[in-house]
Amino acid sequence: MRGPRRGTLGIVVIGLGDIGKQHVDVCSRLDCVSLQGVFDVDRERCNRIAQAYGTKAFESLDEALAFDGEEAVVVATPDDRHLAPAQAALLEGKHCLIEKPLATSLDEARELVRLASASPARAMVGHTLRFDERYYSAIAARRDSRLGDLVHVSAKRRNRQGVGTRVGGRTTVSMFLGVHDLDFLMWLADSKIRSVSAVASKIGSPSTSAPQATMALLEFEDGAVGALESSWGLPAEYPTGLEALVEAIFTNGTLRVSVANGEVTTFANGHAACVPPSRLPVYGHSTGALRNEIETFAHCILDDEEFPVSLEDGYNAVAVAAAIDAACGSGASEHVSYVR
Ligand SMILES: NC(=O)c1ccc[n+]([C@@H]2O[C@H](COP(=O)([O-])OP(=O)(O)OC[C@H]3O[C@@H](n4cnc5c(N)ncnc54)[C@H](O)[C@@H]3O)[C@@H](O)[C@H]2O)c1
Repeated sequence: MRGPRRGTLGIVVIGLGDIGKQHVDVCSRLDCVSLQGVFDVDRERCNRIAQAYGTKAFESLDEALAFDGEEAVVVATPDDRHLAPAQAALLEGKHCLIEKPLATSLDEARELVRLASASPARAMVGHTLRFDERYYSAIAARRDSRLGDLVHVSAKRRNRQGVGTRVGGRTTVSMFLGVHDLDFLMWLADSKIRSVSAVASKIGSPSTSAPQATMALLEFEDGAVGALESSWGLPAEYPTGLEALVEAIFTNGTLRVSVANGEVTTFANGHAACVPPSRLPVYGHSTGALRNEIETFAHCILDDEEFPVSLEDGYNAVAVAAAIDAACGSGASEHVSYVR
């Protein structure tokens, strides 16, 4: 049980697109957070969201970072634009919750790890599955139920085609979707991915150069193997915007996380369990993974506890995603290099 907390954490949300708006909404509802304002380079969007939540619309990043009540920022800018705002915030001593992927290049991801280790402020990467009850309960099952050793695992994550059209110019499907599963798989396996080989499909892609889907084979350092599908291929009229599945085979049981029908099923030592998802605000209170993520971020700062997911974890997922993209181009097996 946690002890009493030290007040609330003042947060400014930077980047108010699809996920940034959700961060603002959750921050505005949490008792442990005080939403201090918002900033987006799109002035109209910034003013509209500030007005909707009764908070301050900052005119610039500098103004936001100089604001008195602000102790931390959520960086929800596009995948390839996390470095500049996170760097400025860390240099000002503000804690950062940086959306995944940590960066789209290894150099930028490494620089963020370096900046955070040199700053008195702390940074966490928003690997949402770490805070999703469905995935979290799978890890709990893996820890509690003596599943034995991981033998092999497969994971899939699919979005509708429109997502690739919207974000494909600034990131890849492995960076945008794959990092979620890569981080989860290394957490589940408790082992890093040593090498990858991969192929890509560009059929139906809005850009001739960008893959619409990648299929990767993963070799873990401890000898387990995995397969990962990351796809923006679901047709526009497909009934759900996200389909995700993990199936893992252990020496003494199996584990399955399915987001399509919102269940986690574990079968271990003769027992099966199913956990429903919870996502929608209930009577005005946020629920779901993003709420768990922001609340955990705030509590770890307020209670001076370690973050459950580190910037190194963020770097590691980017390193494997970059190796998958390289393997799609080279046709060869690519070794993954980590920050040591
Ligand atoms: N955790 C999740 O489940 C999840 C889901 C979707 C997106 N994401 C991640 O969140 C990030 C944002 O994705 P999105 O889909 O919301 O993008 P988006 O394009 O919908 O929104 C990005 C916003 O950032 C603003 N912006 C761009 N540069 C800026 C800057 N320098 N300063 C301030 N604002 C700036 C844009 O005007 C836009 O409003 C990405 O890293 C993405 O991968 C995470």
